Amino acid sequence: MREKLKADEASYRRATAKMKINPLKETDVHSKVVAEFHNVYKSFEDNAKVTKILDKFSYRIQRGDRIGILGKNGSGKTTFLKLLIGALEPDQGRVKVRKELEFSYFDQKRSDLNPEHSLRKTLCPGGGDYIDVMGKERHVCGYLKDFMFDPSRAEDKVSQLSGGQKNRLMLAKVLANPKSCLILDEPTNDLDMETLDILEEILSNYQGTLIIVSHDRDFLDQTVTRIIAFEGDAEIFHCAGGYTEYLEKRKGANEGEKVVSTPEKQKEVIDDKKEEFSAQKPQKLSYKLEREWQMLPDEIAALEKEIEDLGKKLADPDFYKKDPEEFNRCANRLERRKQKLEESELRWLELDEIKQSVSQ
Ligand SMILES: Nc1ncnc2c1ncn2[C@@H]1O[C@H](COP(=O)(O)OP(=O)(O)O)[C@@H](O)[C@H]1O
Ligand SMILES: [Mg+2]
Repeated sequence: MREKLKADEASYRRATAKMKINPLKETDVHSKVVAEFHNVYKSFEDNAKVTKILDKFSYRIQRGDRIGILGKNGSGKTTFLKLLIGALEPDQGRVKVRKELEFSYFDQKRSDLNPEHSLRKTLCPGGGDYIDVMGKERHVCGYLKDFMFDPSRAEDKVSQLSGGQKNRLMLAKVLANPKSCLILDEPTNDLDMETLDILEEILSNYQGTLIIVSHDRDFLDQTVTRIIAFEGDAEIFHCAGGYTEYLEKRKGANEGEKVVSTPEKQKEVIDDKKEEFSAQKPQKLSYKLEREWQMLPDEIAALEKEIEDLGKKLADPDFYKKDPEEFNRCANRLERRKQKLEESELRWLELDEIKQSVSQ
């Protein structure tokens, strides 16, 4: 028996020795940043008239944030979302988004709806009658009912729907399987009370990062925990809380509290975030990581320089003709350097995040 036990133990050891267990990296625990706006400037020019949307705007979005976006029409809310999803580029500054982040985007223009498609085809674009709803197969008629469509309408065309109904259908589509970041641009417009309740219910169960543009005070109070308010001409106010808290804080701001438009004032807001952060998790940055954090900016600068040089080289129209092999080598290197730059920037963000939580 003793012999057998020994043999068992030996084989157990051999087996476990082969198992590869990846230790949790310090950054895995901390990588809460999903996107960051850094000193972003964005404006539009139309007939010599310049509309400023963002000016030296810095903001950090963390996993699980629930952000409500307010502001008059034309103040820049949709532009902000488009910068975030990468559909627009900033004029200056940077918008960094975690690479693996996936968005579900509810477009204000509802451009995802094809007027020629039926309701069924809209929800089941691949054909058939079933739709995957949060990992569960649902019959499209049952799912349509959830969103208060009579199943007899399944074959109606999108073009036959009213504005509010289109909105509802689009919500049904987006909310069937929201990705880890859900962005809704004015989903509450033309929505009846019942659908509004359904939407609130679904969003209250949603665990991902949520960003909603809406003018509906009750709705935002129910669904978000921080506010970004576009007040026109790149004036942006942001605070923790819902719409109601925003109004209270905004009143205070008129009496001299912070409005976020100048760099100094932005700093106050970043400091606000730091506090929240450290309350959650005081952690120490090791000497090795501290050093990595110090070195990264130089490394990033060197990468940027190399990328610029390679880009210039490749832009020479004779280069390929003269030496196609060397051209391809440069092109490949450029791709790899860009990749590396992306990684280094993200790494710096992660380390900086830990550092901030330590320094409190
Ligand atoms: N592609 C564009 N070209 C020129 N001007 C634009 C463009 N996109 C938006 N704008 C202008 O920028 C301002 C902000 O637009 P938008 O972000 O759609 O505002 P909101 O979503 O808050 O109503 C508006 O004055 C709009 O006319
Ligand atoms: Mg808009």
